[in-house]
Amino acid sequence: MIKQAIIPLAGLGTRLLPLSSVIPKELLPINGKPGLQYILDECIEAGIKEIIFIISVKKKMIRDYFYNDKFYKDIIQTKKDIRIKKEYKKIRKYKKMIKFVYQNKPLGTGDAVIRTKRYIKDKYFLMLLPDDLIINKNCSKSMIKLSKKYDSSIMASMKINKKDVSRWGIYELSKKIDKNNSFIKSVIEKPSIKKAPSDRAVIGRYVLSKKIFSKLKKQKPGKGGEIHITDAIQSLIKDNEKFIAHNFSGRYLDCGSMEGYIHSTREISKL
Ligand code: UTP
Repeated sequence: MIKQAIIPLAGLGTRLLPLSSVIPKELLPINGKPGLQYILDECIEAGIKEIIFIISVKKKMIRDYFYNDKFYKDIIQTKKDIRIKKEYKKIRKYKKMIKFVYQNKPLGTGDAVIRTKRYIKDKYFLMLLPDDLIINKNCSKSMIKLSKKYDSSIMASMKINKKDVSRWGIYELSKKIDKNNSFIKSVIEKPSIKKAPSDRAVIGRYVLSKKIFSKLKKQKPGKGGEIHITDAIQSLIKDNEKFIAHNFSGRYLDCGSMEGYIHSTREISKL
């Protein structure tokens, strides 16, 4: 079973400025709870036991959120508030599961992932991009099940508007497995409309094989001068590594752009 997850959190979050100029975007509240906590709850419900955060010195506040024990203990002693006790218990539970690694220069998602290499123990691990919230159905849980069934790497997939392909990683699919799953023939980061092989986009949930690290070691910067995880994945696919695109059944909410963040807060408050 897959027991480890990694969460890249070292990006700049420029699309959420000015909010993200002092507060890491992953701590911004969505209906009274930091976005990151939704991601952690998804991991825990999917059976994950250890979570590796990739942060930067600038985003130290993320570590502080889980390491504020003295503050909580003092408050709980003076104020016998049950709600605070309950919240602190949750924070302690998360804290026990989290490890931190640092990426102080945001050189790209691929560069973030390689920093977790020494911690990954099993053949496969889960990666979640916290900008992508998926509600109503646990996407990670479905993907872990699928990975076990097919002994394969898995990536979440969603149909998008063809005119938006240049904002996403885009799949070229091969054989269909069933209604929601297909093998991936190739994947390309942010293609032009002309070059896009389909209208199926990569969404931020991945089950990756440990083999990705040897590809990342050799990965050269790609689009925008960044080291993209997508390019390393494409390189693995070229070596005949099995990858499945999973059309998840939950609802996707984009929390990485200002418009998306505002929309997500509204939608989650209706649940
Ligand atoms: P994005 O590129 O979508 O987000 O990275 P960003 O850089 O944080 O935000 P913008 O584009 O400036 O608004 C996707 C995820 O990968 C992480 C980000 O923190 C985000 O969760 N990331 C990105 C890293 O950890 N390191 C990087 O070098 C780049």
